[in-house]
Amino acid sequence: MSPRSATAVAHPNVALVKYWGKRDAARNLPAVGSISVTLARLSTVTSVRFDPALRGDELSIGGLPDAQALERVSKVLDRVRASAGFELRASVESRSDFPIGAGLASSASAFAALALAATKAAGLERSRRDLSVLARQGSGSAARSLFGGFVEWHRGERADGIDSFAEQLLPEEAWPLAVLVAVTSGAPKSVGSSDGMEHTRLTSPYWPAWVEGAPAALTAMRDAIGARDLVRVGELAEHSCLAMHAVAMAARPGLVYWNAATVAVMHAVRELRQKGVPAYFSIDAGPQVKVLAAPSDAGRVRDVLRAVPGVERVIDSRPGPGAQLVDGEMESGS
Ligand code: DP6
Repeated sequence: MSPRSATAVAHPNVALVKYWGKRDAARNLPAVGSISVTLARLSTVTSVRFDPALRGDELSIGGLPDAQALERVSKVLDRVRASAGFELRASVESRSDFPIGAGLASSASAFAALALAATKAAGLERSRRDLSVLARQGSGSAARSLFGGFVEWHRGERADGIDSFAEQLLPEEAWPLAVLVAVTSGAPKSVGSSDGMEHTRLTSPYWPAWVEGAPAALTAMRDAIGARDLVRVGELAEHSCLAMHAVAMAARPGLVYWNAATVAVMHAVRELRQKGVPAYFSIDAGPQVKVLAAPSDAGRVRDVLRAVPGVERVIDSRPGPGAQLVDGEMESGS
């Protein structure tokens, strides 16, 4: 059998209702549902080559071998191999055009691209929903990056997790919101999301309240997105972000993902609001701040963010597409 390969591109997403905590860590099933917007500007390109000459799976990220991430990648590849009915090991190359492991959702774009590329390379046809279930097993937020625009990932109830999939709420062209990413540090975060959310579940006294609040937050966000109501979406997103950080900060020891510039940006965004510019912040498990605004205000918001001490750069994005194949051709002889 000759090598079979495929390449896919996927974009990170920003959660507007946050995923934080698992109901089953082994299957990577979330304790809460979540809603996100996929970003157009940032991207990860991942190539997968199943090759009979390989003795084990290989992974390089940004050109460097990465043994730590290989375990999760192999887990996803194992599923693909089981469906395809072969044992071939794979070489995986992943490159992102933004800092990885720094709270910019690199695992979301990377595992969404991996799920699509690996499935295609294995000669399988899968629905987007099935691909989201596959990507979820590498990294939860990756389930959402299979889709463009506004996306919901369902918590699901089943122990086997097949009802924990993502689906699109609104396509990217339906609502051209501005999402500005204020990068305050490119350094990798000290506590990764998986460890941070498990630590939160086990030690934070606010954990039950966080889980109980999720269904109402999801319903309200779904309605606000359906109405394309920036003020409501923004208020709900800010609340979900602060609630997620609050439950994590109350863990023992508490998790603090922010730096001084993160907090300064939060205040700058609220000052903008006082001046009549609807702008809202969201922060994931890292110090970067994502700001939602109307496209007509994007230039003004960007200038304000750039002027905040500690902000290294501002990336101006819009809702973007789901994961796509770059070259789906398999080398002959399969
Ligand atoms: C704060 O998807 O990275 O960005 O499933 O353990 O890989 P794992 O976690 P991950 O967590 C993302 C957490 C978040 C919020 C979100 O994206 O919903």
